[in-house]
Amino acid sequence: MAGRYKSDLKWSDVTPKADWINRRQLMAGSGALALGSIAGPAVASLGAQKTDWGAGLEPNSVEEITTYNNYYEFGTDKGDPAMHAHALTTEPWSIEIDGLVDQPGSYGLEDILKSVTLEERIYRLRCVERWSMVVPWVGFELADLLAMAGVQPSAQYVAFETALRPDEMPGVSYPIIDWPYKEGLRLDEAMHPLTIMATGLYDEPMPNQNGAPIRLVVPWKYGYKSIKSVVRISLVEEQPPTAWNNYSANEYGFYSNVNPDRDHPRWSQKYERRVGGGLFAKQEPTLFMNGYADEVGSLYAGMDLIENH
Ligand code: MTE
Repeated sequence: MAGRYKSDLKWSDVTPKADWINRRQLMAGSGALALGSIAGPAVASLGAQKTDWGAGLEPNSVEEITTYNNYYEFGTDKGDPAMHAHALTTEPWSIEIDGLVDQPGSYGLEDILKSVTLEERIYRLRCVERWSMVVPWVGFELADLLAMAGVQPSAQYVAFETALRPDEMPGVSYPIIDWPYKEGLRLDEAMHPLTIMATGLYDEPMPNQNGAPIRLVVPWKYGYKSIKSVVRISLVEEQPPTAWNNYSANEYGFYSNVNPDRDHPRWSQKYERRVGGGLFAKQEPTLFMNGYADEVGSLYAGMDLIENH
């Protein structure tokens, strides 16, 4: 069709019809609860550019993605975030970028969004607990945000922190981990084009339960590395402490690359279960680096990935 560019494609063009209908029913209000923070019937489309990432992957439905969550600040059951995360105030929002950068300071999300291009990235998500999904994220490369702040040559790692709001987050009154939730990446991992800051999914603003208004997504690592509702990013020289690694280093390594050959001490990581496949769905083999080894394998050349799990 004349004048029809790839970026003009809408989700209805590429999403399996059943998912699309399911999503439209949700938008019509039958699933208002599932949509959490997406308020009102007229939700602005983010107009994200289509990309080739995820071609061939079939995304989970919006209902699956927004009702089966891990966000311990709002409770530890999979349904807790959908029930409680609407309490999180996400506007205004800013990210403090500090440490080894040329321009430290508070970066307003609105300003950040003026200088980046939002893209749709359909990625696999593999939780360390053995469930998986495919999510059509909307976001931009973390490298673009780091470039705004100007990374200094001595920086080796990037540390991230989630908001800590005891008044809005019922889960943080339980000392499950040492709040706020913290994560970290090596600088080259952070700069990799696959690593994004996501502000939405299914071309709509990020539901609170999925980490509104802005979260990290690192698709080749276990899901807990993809920290939600980020308020602070620090460029540092030493490997930063991270929430689950502090909790139990043998269970949750700093790298946490998806690896079927490195079992969790309490369970095998050889297989996973796709959310939405039903109770009796066949387990699927876990993919090394969650299927992204061609893209990111070279970051770990020469490293023992069992030791550096
Ligand atoms: N970020 C924060 N702040 N708190 C959390 O509990 N859970 C992590 C990660 N990010 C978590 C978090 C885990 S274990 C996973 S699997 C993913 O978020 C889940 O993301 P989703 O709910 O959008 O699927």
